[in-house]
Amino acid sequence: MKILWQMDQPVDPGLTTLMQTAADCAVLTEGVAQPCAVSVRLCDDEAIHAINRDYRQVDRATDVLSFPLLAYPKGKTAGSLSRHALAQAWDDETNAVMLGDLVISVDHIAAQAEAYGHSVAREAAFLLVHGLCHLMGYDHMEEDEQRRMRTMEEKILNQIGMSREENAEGMEPVSDEALLGLARAAMERAYAPYSEFSVGAALLCEDGRVFQGCNIENASYPLSNCAERTAVFKAVSEGEKSFTTIAITSNGSTPWPCGACRQVLNEFAPSIRVLVEGADGVRDELPLSALLPHGFGPKDLGK
Ligand code: THU
Repeated sequence: MKILWQMDQPVDPGLTTLMQTAADCAVLTEGVAQPCAVSVRLCDDEAIHAINRDYRQVDRATDVLSFPLLAYPKGKTAGSLSRHALAQAWDDETNAVMLGDLVISVDHIAAQAEAYGHSVAREAAFLLVHGLCHLMGYDHMEEDEQRRMRTMEEKILNQIGMSREENAEGMEPVSDEALLGLARAAMERAYAPYSEFSVGAALLCEDGRVFQGCNIENASYPLSNCAERTAVFKAVSEGEKSFTTIAITSNGSTPWPCGACRQVLNEFAPSIRVLVEGADGVRDELPLSALLPHGFGPKDLGK
């Protein structure tokens, strides 16, 4: 999912990283067959108030506003629209179906997180997913459509470790299919003009959060970074170091991690499950301990 961001003020990059993963997860869970794009503006209460007043004649600030580009027949959502119907919103610039615009108030994210007693990250993910569900044709005017929308929101949030269910034991574990889907979405963002070998990774953390990574090449070849290490470095720089599974996918051969990535994974998670899928769709998995036997790690330095 391509997000066109507009930030009216500096926003914690951890939040926008999480929102990107939530957006990827939303279109995957909905099963939209085409690449999608959305524009997301993060603003303050004053700005969202003005938009609410000017475009909806509602004279107050709110948490999120959604302006869908597609018209959905009753009972239909993006995943059940035909290719032809989705093509109505095709955007040549992003090379994707433009689902529409979202406006989210950063002031409301903070205030509602405080009021509900959960993290700012959880509230940001929830508001993005709620808005995206509207852009994909969901609504909550009638009881049965509200139930459908809530179920979809929970399903999406659950898969990125952000369910409203505070108790991690009450959460469904992230499925291998969902994790590989997030790895495939990350692969779309690979920067690999030299090798043309695109790789995507999705790293599942013990608390259910997921960090994505892609390979990033450089004209000075050795400076290129693998997808797996991008994901690990993103997670560690956001304060997360407990990993359970890494899903890796490529546009070519089965992407077993290279030696450097095995070593970096070994630093934090010597027994992490490594799940791979090649372009042919063939999957395989091994624990890292089988890929890096007798690995040298923190324990060898008494840590
Ligand atoms: N690559 C990865 O991203 N992960 C691996 O485990 C193996 C290789 C990338 C690095 C480079 O951009 C391209 O694949 C070709 O080596």
